Amino acid sequence: MPSYTLITGASSGLGLALAEALARRGRNLILVARRRDALESIASELAQRFGVQVLFRLCDLGKPLQISGLLLELEEGDWHIDLLINNAGRGYAGPFLEQDWMHELEQLEVNMLALTRLCHALGKRMALQGGGQILNVASVAAFHPGPWMSSYYASKAYVLHLSEGLREELRHYGVRVSVLCPGPTRTAFFRSARMNVSRLERSAWMMNADQVALFTVRALEKNQPLIIPNWRNRLLATLPRLTPRWLMRKLAGRITQPFTKR
Ligand SMILES: NC(=O)c1ccc[n+]([C@@H]2O[C@H](COP(=O)([O-])OP(=O)(O)OC[C@H]3O[C@@H](n4cnc5c(N)ncnc54)[C@H](OP(=O)(O)O)[C@@H]3O)[C@@H](O)[C@H]2O)c1
Repeated sequence: MPSYTLITGASSGLGLALAEALARRGRNLILVARRRDALESIASELAQRFGVQVLFRLCDLGKPLQISGLLLELEEGDWHIDLLINNAGRGYAGPFLEQDWMHELEQLEVNMLALTRLCHALGKRMALQGGGQILNVASVAAFHPGPWMSSYYASKAYVLHLSEGLREELRHYGVRVSVLCPGPTRTAFFRSARMNVSRLERSAWMMNADQVALFTVRALEKNQPLIIPNWRNRLLATLPRLTPRWLMRKLAGRITQPFTKR
């Protein structure tokens, strides 16, 4: 029976780069996102270039009923999924009190609830299959608070902690869990988060999605628990451990606020 990697948010950015890096290594894929046109053309291109099976499923991960439909289909199809990549994510920058509540809710649904539900449902199936691997995409934002983008940063802290907890629990079932914490990466994320990153764009800190994906796939092959591409990001992730919390809050605000000004 062929095995598949399921990637959420595979229609652009990091998810697309991960899909390509894995197809290059001969993995069959199930791509999940909302945009049919993007998924259709990515699936046919990757299948043609790398000779692997690439399926896609439309699912709005902010809508629990659509996730139920996806999970039912996966169960009925009896797909053998041995790698789950929970990559889809949303972020909205700006003052918390001025955010549209429906945007906030969608962000929390996609970043935390959908991700947790897929870990639960597919983790269970992997345990029954005798093993598997899960990669959750958090962010360097997971390591400290992010004033003016507070709920996004908090949602990524949740992903980091959930993943590290599950890594310890699920290893008893042969399921390996890793968490990816990228720093700033050139994707559509900043535009959809309504962030102004024009200064960051030109800095060496910003990575390309392909670089992050290659680093990640290699780290996954080594079953690394915590994947942080680039030394600058590793330094940023260490900073909160060396800095008093009051100072970290102030610094985080100073760093985040300029990016949230349109
Ligand atoms: N770019 C960065 O600097 C950066 C840094 C750290 C962490 N991250 C994280 O990396 C992950 C990927 O983001 P990206 O940078 O690649 O951004 P992106 O290019 O905007 O990609 C986001 C992906 O998520 C999907 N998505 C969004 N909302 C969805 C929903 N409701 N249902 C299903 N799919 C949905 C989008 O597909 P559709 O629109 O087709 O649904 C798209 O494929 C996110 O978790 C993000 O938080 C990004």
